[in-house]
Amino acid sequence: MSDRSSRRRRQADPYFVARGAGGQLGDMWGQHDVAVVLGSGWGEAVAALGEVTEEMPAATLPGFMAPTVEGHGGSIASVLAGERRVLLFRGRVHLYEGHSPHDVVHGVRVAEAAGCKSIILTNAAGGINSSYHPGLPVLLTDHINLTGLSPLSGPAPPPPRSVRFVDLTEAYSHRLRQIAKEVDPEVGEGVYAGLQGPHYETPAEIRMLMAMGADLVGMSTVLECIAARHLGMEVLGVSLVTNVAAGLSDDLLDHEEVLAAGQDAGSRVGALLRGVIDRL
Ligand code: HPA
Repeated sequence: MSDRSSRRRRQADPYFVARGAGGQLGDMWGQHDVAVVLGSGWGEAVAALGEVTEEMPAATLPGFMAPTVEGHGGSIASVLAGERRVLLFRGRVHLYEGHSPHDVVHGVRVAEAAGCKSIILTNAAGGINSSYHPGLPVLLTDHINLTGLSPLSGPAPPPPRSVRFVDLTEAYSHRLRQIAKEVDPEVGEGVYAGLQGPHYETPAEIRMLMAMGADLVGMSTVLECIAARHLGMEVLGVSLVTNVAAGLSDDLLDHEEVLAAGQDAGSRVGALLRGVIDRL
């Protein structure tokens, strides 16, 4: 293969692009300890997290897309939280925006390349479990990936992570969940079903998810978790229940309600994130 075609192939390889972007980030802002991905409605949590020392549009770095949904910010920040350096992703890209699984998990791979050994994936979710209420943070014990997709299909991952058959027996870290429960003993725990969306579910689909053992439903997180585990990162997943899932209450679902529930719970979920980061 010529030098030029091998360079072109590497430039199109998502692992190579992520490694390059992570290296660039490290050169600009130094190494980070932990990454946090903020889901819809989690923006209010930033104030409790620490001091934002740097921030830039995510699309400044190679491989990032400009997000299309209002309320999904699309920036990367460096936050000093006590002793820890946090790489904060405000907003994420979703499959429903037409992006590929590799695009969706790009931030996770960049965070790992920038030194992060653990990642906190947050999201907004509909509550299926009848003991949940809007405003409740719920720790993910596991997920059901109903997207039909994997971030590990496609080009072979490079060494030292060339094995793509990743064990997901403990996709979400038991250790990090214990820490989170010490910080906020009232949080819920449950299984998250990840669908493509962007439409909300039908009541029949929610009954199906309930029968499958799902407690929460949303449109993100599952692919990011898989990519993080592939890289050996420890994952904490936290959903903020923003609504009762379709058909389980008399209410209809609406995106504004999802964002508003996040605003109301901002200080609680912010304190939860900061408490976990302090104890890592
Ligand atoms: N379903 C799917 N995704 C969601 C929901 C929901 O009810 N609420 C917030 N994100």
